Amino acid sequence: MANFFTIRTVTWEKGRVKMIDQTALPVKLTYVRYTRPEQVAGAIRTMVVRGAPAIGVAAAMGLALAAVSSKATRTVDLMKEMEASASLLRGTRPTAVNLFWGIDRVMKKAASAPSVREAKHAVSAEVKAMEDEDVEVNRRLGREGAGLIGNGDTVLTQCNAGALATVGYGTALGVVRAAVEQGKLVKVLVPETRPALQGARLTAFELVRDKIACTLISDTAVGHMMSQGRVDCVIVGADRITRDGYVFNKIGTYQEAVLASRHGIPFYPAAPHSTFDLDRAHDGVTIEERGAEEVVEIRGRRVAPRGIPVANPAFDMTPPELVTAMITDRGLIRSPFSENISRLIA
Ligand code: MRU
Repeated sequence: MANFFTIRTVTWEKGRVKMIDQTALPVKLTYVRYTRPEQVAGAIRTMVVRGAPAIGVAAAMGLALAAVSSKATRTVDLMKEMEASASLLRGTRPTAVNLFWGIDRVMKKAASAPSVREAKHAVSAEVKAMEDEDVEVNRRLGREGAGLIGNGDTVLTQCNAGALATVGYGTALGVVRAAVEQGKLVKVLVPETRPALQGARLTAFELVRDKIACTLISDTAVGHMMSQGRVDCVIVGADRITRDGYVFNKIGTYQEAVLASRHGIPFYPAAPHSTFDLDRAHDGVTIEERGAEEVVEIRGRRVAPRGIPVANPAFDMTPPELVTAMITDRGLIRSPFSENISRLIA
């Protein structure tokens, strides 16, 4: 078996949260350790940790920090303190549904414990389980999707939906890893993914480290590469898939889907069941707008004139008619999406 990127992006270690500082990559692989929920909230907001599944587990761990460090003696007081931290964490990034999923899971665990001591124990065990489950779920997802990649195929992705966007292994890149583990030759086309450059910095870092063939392209080269027959399929991650089959993912995904449809190239979002939002249709989702500095600067260096108005939507929405199939840890979902999502995910 290939010796893939096995370090964990986020981990619960002796009552602290340890995570890779993704803002320092690819220059330095360094870790940060947090003991307070507000530190974790800050890390999510500033993208020290990012990627929907990683954010979900990190937020859950941030909330667990509130529980284990609490001086409360009554469960009602513990729950109040935890609710305050949960609300802070919920306000960090609005689009990735895993954030809310992770927080709710820890709140439920604490609420069902009969004492403060047991609640602390239960939430620590829960976040450790979530950490392990994330890797397992991604491996399963990878196996479900690997059959869609043919030997010798070139896969176009977007952003980073790899080990760094999860606890480990990755979703879109998990499918690529599983195909490589099956002995297939796979090449990945990596758009740089402006403005935060998760493709150039993070996907490139992972793939080079794992010796998976890859080529970095500018975001604007996607259509040209497709028109030249240099893309066999598109596999991307997702921050939220709504019950009506709309896929919210990193800005640039929608244009990849439109171009793929134009060129008859299959388009596959890959996401664990925790990324599906069965409570909402596409018009109920908030797309995060991030700061102008991400666009007017490249890695701290100004490239646009002062005073220029900027729009910086961090995600976009791909409608189900552009999706060939969704790859999940519970199997592939094909059209009709609404019906099949509720059948497989509910
Ligand atoms: O802004 P980011 O870096 O958190 O956005 C990440 C993405 O859009 C990923 O594609 C998505 O979260 C899926 S990660 C498995």
